[in-house]
Amino acid sequence: MTYPLLHLLFLFHRLISPTLSLPPAPPVHCNSTANHCTISNAYGAWNDRSPCPVPSVVYPSTEEELLSAVASAQRLSLKVKVVSGYSHTIPKLVCPPPTGSLLISTAKYSSRVAVDSVRNTVTVDAGVGLRDVVDAAEAAGLSLPAAPYWEGVSIAGLISTGSHGSSWWGKGGAVHEYVVAMRLVVPAAADEGFAKVVEIDGNAPELFNGARVSMGLLGAISKVTLSLEPAFKRNVTYEYRSDDEFQDEFTEMTKQHEFFDIDWYPSQRLAVYRLDGRAPANASGDGVNDFIGFQANPTLTSMAVRFAEKALEESKNVKGKCAMAATVLSAKKLAANGLKNDDFIFSGYPVIGRQSKIQTSGSCLHSSQSNPLAMCSWDPRIKGLFFYETTAIFTASNFKNFVLDVKKLRDLNPQNFCGVDVYNGFLIRFIKASSAYLGQAEDSFVVDFNYYRADEPSTPRLNQDVWEEVEQMAFFKYGARPHWGKNRKVAFFGVQEKYHDQMNKFNALKKKLDPMGMFSSEWSDEILLGRKVGKKDGCALEGECICSEDRHCSPRNGYFCKSGLVYREAKVCRFLSSSAF
Ligand SMILES: Cc1cc2nc3c(=O)[nH]c(=O)nc-3n(C[C@H](O)[C@H](O)[C@H](O)COP(=O)(O)OP(=O)(O)OC[C@H]3O[C@@H](n4cnc5c(N)ncnc54)[C@H](O)[C@@H]3O)c2cc1C
Ligand SMILES: *[C@@H]1O[C@H](CO)[C@@H](O)[C@H](O)[C@H]1NC(C)=O
Ligand SMILES: *[C@@H]1O[C@H](CO)[C@@H](O)[C@H](O)[C@H]1NC(C)=O
Ligand SMILES: *[C@@H]1O[C@H](CO)[C@@H](O)[C@H](O)[C@H]1NC(C)=O
Repeated sequence: MTYPLLHLLFLFHRLISPTLSLPPAPPVHCNSTANHCTISNAYGAWNDRSPCPVPSVVYPSTEEELLSAVASAQRLSLKVKVVSGYSHTIPKLVCPPPTGSLLISTAKYSSRVAVDSVRNTVTVDAGVGLRDVVDAAEAAGLSLPAAPYWEGVSIAGLISTGSHGSSWWGKGGAVHEYVVAMRLVVPAAADEGFAKVVEIDGNAPELFNGARVSMGLLGAISKVTLSLEPAFKRNVTYEYRSDDEFQDEFTEMTKQHEFFDIDWYPSQRLAVYRLDGRAPANASGDGVNDFIGFQANPTLTSMAVRFAEKALEESKNVKGKCAMAATVLSAKKLAANGLKNDDFIFSGYPVIGRQSKIQTSGSCLHSSQSNPLAMCSWDPRIKGLFFYETTAIFTASNFKNFVLDVKKLRDLNPQNFCGVDVYNGFLIRFIKASSAYLGQAEDSFVVDFNYYRADEPSTPRLNQDVWEEVEQMAFFKYGARPHWGKNRKVAFFGVQEKYHDQMNKFNALKKKLDPMGMFSSEWSDEILLGRKVGKKDGCALEGECICSEDRHCSPRNGYFCKSGLVYREAKVCRFLSSSAF
């Protein structure tokens, strides 16, 4: 694959702007012949690698049905997991135990959205999608200030993992800060009918702080009530700057721009500032944020890009990765990352549009007709993009030093960072202190970065050592906390200690609401407890362990367990050319 061809593919994609697309497949797959179901996440990451069998699944559509599902599970001593119709979480939080368990899907519990324009709130069924919530709010003249950037998530699912956008203003960027009430279904004694609804609001702080971010471990959320504000517009400009001093500027920038974030591309020495704040509701402008990464891609483009990336990986072509990163970046710059001044094109900054049209996006989710012309670029039905996503949450005092360390590592060889810059570089966002036990106790920085994941778990990746060193720097040197909805297992090691008292309070509440551990599984325990599993050959390649011996890497392919280059305590799998070993 030559770079001009790649470039062409991107242009091709921009020109044809497909309107037909195929929405993602439902996450629960059943084979009626074999009488057997499995669940996967939206990336299909669990399918072949370590499938997640589902002994039984129900689709309640009302609170009564949800209640009776939990009651029958209690009667039959079944374990329960709840999943949305989207299943967009990376860790296996929604996998039920392989036997004696019930999966509750909220895919059909998604029809009620009630806006209260007197109290400025919206109350929704757990499975309602984010897009429907923000659209309904706006139709009533209200806005939800915070949202994750991806609209393909349910309300209960997104708050359960602490999902967020970016802001240090008001209640901040995390959506669970806007929750004012919830209804949670928990197991109960026989004389209470085996299950009951617990009503939760700020008057019962223990429940309120525990349940808002609870990864489905306390019970099944039935309804969520969010507080809203009078409708407003957003005013967005992307500014391209050198990355020389951004670590000294962001605190000030967050004060000036309510929804500020930074996309940092280390290999390009570039920091893209999102200058983004409110505009009055009557400001002119009907812009849309149709983020380029969440647009439907022609199947062919996704496959070609994956094919190219794979070829560069296999030939260890760092320069090629850098060319790819430069191409992707110039395409994004040209397209303003997908911002449009109207429904169709970008014609210049600032882009001003309604909050619901700017705060979150995901046009690849929607189809106008069932036509497999285009889909989300990571859709597992095609051999499209496949990547890891590491998301680390830092306290203010640690974040700057983390950035300086990453810069040191970058300066040793900037090209080593092209692999993350092919995706979105390091996306830096801001969330405010929260009283949720599994939320952040102080104002925090969140960093996301994506990188290539091989089709085969045993295949080492180009610059694997660099991503591992950054990952270990974040989570161990600087004590960052993992986003509950993303990351590889290694990010969760030691997580109980990082949350100290908060975790004790959460565990105590779980004992009260779910004394028999109905909502726990081996999978979710691995995340919540940060449990380390036995070290197998090659375990470090997929982030299942930190290597301590070469066999945890891939000696056969020339990858050995070595110390970090900047963070010496890190243990990473590094490729040594044959002359070196
Ligand atoms: C492309 C993409 C972009 C993303 N962007 C962002 C972002 O900008 N910011 C961010 O913070 N995150 C982001 N995420 C992560 C995403 O917001 C979370 O993974 C979210 O939890 C997914 O919601 P879901 O509805 O798919 O839930 P699921 O994956 O189905 O479930 C998530 C968790 O919620 C629990 N749960 C779901 N429904 C219920 C219920 N009714 N009762 C009890 N528990 C329940 C599940 O058991 C599980 O523990 C992104 C993910 C993707 C794939
Ligand atoms: C369903 O199960 C049957 C029997 O095990 C198997 O032959 C068939 O290939 C399966 N179908 C799919 C689509 O996996
Ligand atoms: C949009 O923001 C810019 C600063 O980034 C400001 O100069 C401009 O006045 C704003 N426009 C509106 C309508 O708020
Ligand atoms: C918006 O409304 C304010 C006050 O209601 C008014 O002063 C202003 O002129 C209006 N702006 C526009 C662009 O209509």
